[in-house]
Amino acid sequence: MKHAIRQALCLLTVLALLAGAAACTPGPEPSAGSGGTAGNAPAIPDGAGGGQENTGGGEPGGTVLVAYFSATGNTRRVAQRLAAVTGGDLYEIQPAEPYTEADLDYGNPQSRSSLEMNDPDARPAIGSPLPALQGYTTVYLGYPIWHGQAPRILCTFVENCALEGVTVIPFCTSGGSGIGNSAGLLEELAGGGRWLPGRHFAQDVTDAALLEWVGSLA
Ligand SMILES: Cc1cc2nc3c(=O)[nH]c(=O)nc-3n(C[C@H](O)[C@H](O)[C@H](O)COP(=O)(O)O)c2cc1C
Repeated sequence: MKHAIRQALCLLTVLALLAGAAACTPGPEPSAGSGGTAGNAPAIPDGAGGGQENTGGGEPGGTVLVAYFSATGNTRRVAQRLAAVTGGDLYEIQPAEPYTEADLDYGNPQSRSSLEMNDPDARPAIGSPLPALQGYTTVYLGYPIWHGQAPRILCTFVENCALEGVTVIPFCTSGGSGIGNSAGLLEELAGGGRWLPGRHFAQDVTDAALLEWVGSLA
């Protein structure tokens, strides 16, 4: 009887030791990109670009760059989808002085955007470092239509980026206008690059429509 009790105590001790050891064993490392977020949040949110965010200056991650300016988010959405379907990197043309709602009042001839668009020589400064274009063969260039044209900050961009040897493909969003001659004007100012015809997109354009367009350019 005593022997049986001793055996049972031994067994319990061994089980307790095993349980303790299991509790100290480190679990699997959190996977890269989980970012410590609780739950099953995706590492790359839906709608984000397919490649890296090019914050300017640094090393490019691919051969396609989607560069865009967006004041109210419509062109950004299209640019993000385009980067996702092309696997391209994203670069946002950020104004040194962000546009306020009053600045964007196109009904007011004295608003900042109206004054800029009425002055062909206006060149609003870009606040983000310009992207290093080495390694990129294709640059999609996105912008909203302002007063029938590309916002003047696009003029600043194309005049300061060396686009020689790069295929430039403009795209725009708008309240209804087409792309018109906005891209032609940018091409003249750029003085370099192989410019393909631009295209207008609705802000809720589907990936399928974007893919079809990208395929048609090849
Ligand atoms: C200053 C200003 C001028 C605009 N001019 C036009 C225009 O001439 N034709 C048009 O269809 N939409 C015009 N719009 C509407 C924008 O093109 C449209 O809302 C666009 O999708 C905004 O893009 P974003 O959200 O990327 O800035 C204008 C908007 C602003 C703020």
